[in-house]
Amino acid sequence: MNSAPPIIHLKDIHFSYPGGKAVLNHLDFKFYRGDRTGLIAPNGSGKTTLFHLIMGLVKPSSGKIELFGKPVSTARDFEDVRRRIGLLFQDPDDQLFSPTVMEDVAFGPLNLGKSKSEAQTIAHRTLAYLGLEGFEDRITYKLSGGEKRLVSLATVLAMEPEVLLLDEPLNGLDVDTRAKIEEIIFNLDLSYIIISHDIDFLLSTTAQIYTIKNGKILFDDKLQIHAHRHAHPHGQYPHEHE
Ligand SMILES: Nc1ncnc2c1ncn2[C@@H]1O[C@H](COP(=O)(O)OP(=O)(O)OP(=O)(O)O)[C@@H](O)[C@H]1O
Ligand SMILES: [Mg+2]
Repeated sequence: MNSAPPIIHLKDIHFSYPGGKAVLNHLDFKFYRGDRTGLIAPNGSGKTTLFHLIMGLVKPSSGKIELFGKPVSTARDFEDVRRRIGLLFQDPDDQLFSPTVMEDVAFGPLNLGKSKSEAQTIAHRTLAYLGLEGFEDRITYKLSGGEKRLVSLATVLAMEPEVLLLDEPLNGLDVDTRAKIEEIIFNLDLSYIIISHDIDFLLSTTAQIYTIKNGKILFDDKLQIHAHRHAHPHGQYPHEHE
């Protein structure tokens, strides 16, 4: 068992958008350093909302969030957290805002206090790692959907976060690029949560898979082909047996 505290701990979270019904309801979730977790659940079930709560982009109506062992609630608390947790947005247009690819990818490292040349070196290296050599001067808004997704991933990786939250990272990618990104993700020495509708992708990149039902996160036994080899490391969480 892991005796360190969870690095993401959501306690009895309730969330609804203004005027809407509850999206997340009495949700509890613990995520530990080194965890590789998949999240698969129907459209509109609250997956993206969950990531936005962890990043402080939306606020829970009630409940508590602890990140890296500390309660977080103010904008300042979340500013610190955003240096350590990288979010790949579901829609790359939410991620990319600079005129050129280089400016977008170097933005994070610059923001973390790196010099301009250090930031550019990191950006070049990250782009090359993702097979995007030569994209530095491309105009961001003119990229194809798949290229935007890859550049978005580059902006997140360039920040060298401790934890990655990847919201449908393979969306819009062709078969070869999907295979490449799947391998890159698998080889990352990071803790991560991946939202995807592709169960095979999750089975190959994550060690446990959760779902969201009625606003709560559930450990889904049906999705764990290795469930018994892993001996239910998260068995203390609510999970379903039919
Ligand atoms: N800004 C918003 N204002 C009002 N309602 C919203 C907003 N964003 C999302 N919702 C609603 O909240 C619910 C959860 O949305 P969310 O985007 O978290 O779902 P999701 O599980 O990520 O879905 P998908 O698989 O389609 O990406 C949906 O019913 C959605 O319509
Ligand atoms: Mg979503």
